[in-house]
Amino acid sequence: MTRSDELPLYPHRHLLGIRGLSPHDIEDLLDRADAAVAISRQAEKKSAILRGRTQINLFFEASTRTQSSFELAGKRLGADVMNMSVASSSVKKGETLIDTAMTLNAMRPDILIIRHQSAGAAALLAQKVGCSVVNAGDGAHEHPTQALLDALTIRRAKGHIGGLVVAICGDILHSRVARSNILLLNALGARVRVVAPSTLLPSGIADMSVEVCRTMQEGLKDADVVMMLRLQRERMTGSFVSSVREYFHYYGLDAAKLAHAKPDALVMHPGPMNRGVEIASEIADGPQSVIQEQVEMGVAVRMAVMQALMDPRRNTGAAQ
Ligand code: CP
Repeated sequence: MTRSDELPLYPHRHLLGIRGLSPHDIEDLLDRADAAVAISRQAEKKSAILRGRTQINLFFEASTRTQSSFELAGKRLGADVMNMSVASSSVKKGETLIDTAMTLNAMRPDILIIRHQSAGAAALLAQKVGCSVVNAGDGAHEHPTQALLDALTIRRAKGHIGGLVVAICGDILHSRVARSNILLLNALGARVRVVAPSTLLPSGIADMSVEVCRTMQEGLKDADVVMMLRLQRERMTGSFVSSVREYFHYYGLDAAKLAHAKPDALVMHPGPMNRGVEIASEIADGPQSVIQEQVEMGVAVRMAVMQALMDPRRNTGAAQ
């Protein structure tokens, strides 16, 4: 991985969303992440790029991939990493998000990684604390590192992103992954389709420069990438699908539906996956699936993001 002082200074102090990043910013992060893959594939998976820096992971929602990959990413770069367990913290005694964040801020971390159920939580924190903030998923708003790792996976498999047809299928309404991916893929020149029943599409979706498709046959036709999303029941307030069986029949990815995409189409899923609901097991584990590559790229992207934000030429870590 190239030393920070040999790279141009990344122009942002926080990563709160894909919105606000230029195509150049995105490509820069993907290039850095490509270099980080090499570190993770070495027998000795350590670099000293972030030695002496402190990273706090503050997850108010459950996570397997994002939290563990942020932890590994920090450790591979030599940072001191603290995982704050919300379940055993004073949040349980009624402490607010801001008070919790200000308490941690007083311990002078260099970077705070936050996942929260409320849209805008990461942006709010960034206004209050003195360190860099990374949004690890805020409600149904954004999940920028997921979109970056998806883009890295696609770019490494296909060689480019511009001009590809990407079908994002499933619960678009409640998905921060869909929103961040639409923004990023559009910024890099892909053609984005969303495929979902009308109950799972946000009202303003047509304004996001996507083609809206109501059937998998239409949405997957000649697609280069098929990205499946789970039903996000934790964000649903009513009944959005009549039955899982019917949902799988119309929107679950199986061999017959995948046959409408290009023969070399990539099958992607951000996880967690519900087999037999949005994707058949033989497709999730099949030859076109790059789901495990996505997980590997997650560590590399998070290494790249933290290196870019904690550039020693920028005065981070000074709690105000
Ligand atoms: N894709 C994703 O955010 O997974 P986790 O919820 O396991 O972090």
